[in-house]
Amino acid sequence: MSAKIDIGAEERVFVLTGAGISAESGLPTFRDSNGLWSGHRVDEVATPEAWKKNPELVWRFYSMRRREAMQAVPNPAHHALAVLESRLGQNFFLCTQNVDDLHERAGSRNLLHMHGELFSSRCEDDCGEPVFPDQNLYESESVIPRCKCGARLRPHIVWFGECPLGMDRIMHEIDRCHVMIVIGTSGNVHPAASFVHWARQRGPWVRTYYVGPELPANAAAFTEVIQGRAGEVLPDCLREK
Ligand code: APR
Repeated sequence: MSAKIDIGAEERVFVLTGAGISAESGLPTFRDSNGLWSGHRVDEVATPEAWKKNPELVWRFYSMRRREAMQAVPNPAHHALAVLESRLGQNFFLCTQNVDDLHERAGSRNLLHMHGELFSSRCEDDCGEPVFPDQNLYESESVIPRCKCGARLRPHIVWFGECPLGMDRIMHEIDRCHVMIVIGTSGNVHPAASFVHWARQRGPWVRTYYVGPELPANAAAFTEVIQGRAGEVLPDCLREK
């Protein structure tokens, strides 16, 4: 019999997703053997220091990821979460560490990108110009885009050493959820890896589920670990009784 995630009427659900949910859409994860961090050094492409030292390399890296994400399509796991949201309405909240837009394209709406968004850019100096949608590829040496103020434009991505976005909202949602479902994240990067602990601290009535093919680093904190590829197991786990 397949595993089931029970959600009672009126219960609030907090979902956290990581790179694993987009793996079946063809996007690489970070820490798997063919992951992004096996082919690229974090400190050369994903830190404020990397940006200062070599913005061209950083833009080439994020342009490559834009190109890959544009070609990807949502998989059954993204769709299953959108269906769950349509059932639960405002009782559903989705926090993703992913910077791709596959959740939006599957139909998710109550969604927060805590590590930024691949298809947005912003001024490196925070001059007051708002973050804006940007699908351009900046791949050749001469094309580092500029803000109206003259400073460089950077990807709207939370790099290592920077603060995740929307933490007040995230903590508010964890504080009122009854069920937490974490999908496809290795449990190595904080604060996201701590969310399950924060939820459990509220009391024994909070149920926490992990869905993914391997045990995450924080596996012991979950009420239940459902092992399998998200696109294969999640739609069934979330099916209405
Ligand atoms: N379904 C579900 N999970 C999967 C699948 C799949 N089909 N394939 C792989 N996974 C799991 C792996 O088992 C692994 O535990 O996805 C996880 C991916 O882990 P990481 O590569 O560490 O990615 P993530 O946890 O999202 O990384 C967190 O680190 O590099 C930063 O900012 C980046 O948001 C990222 C953060």
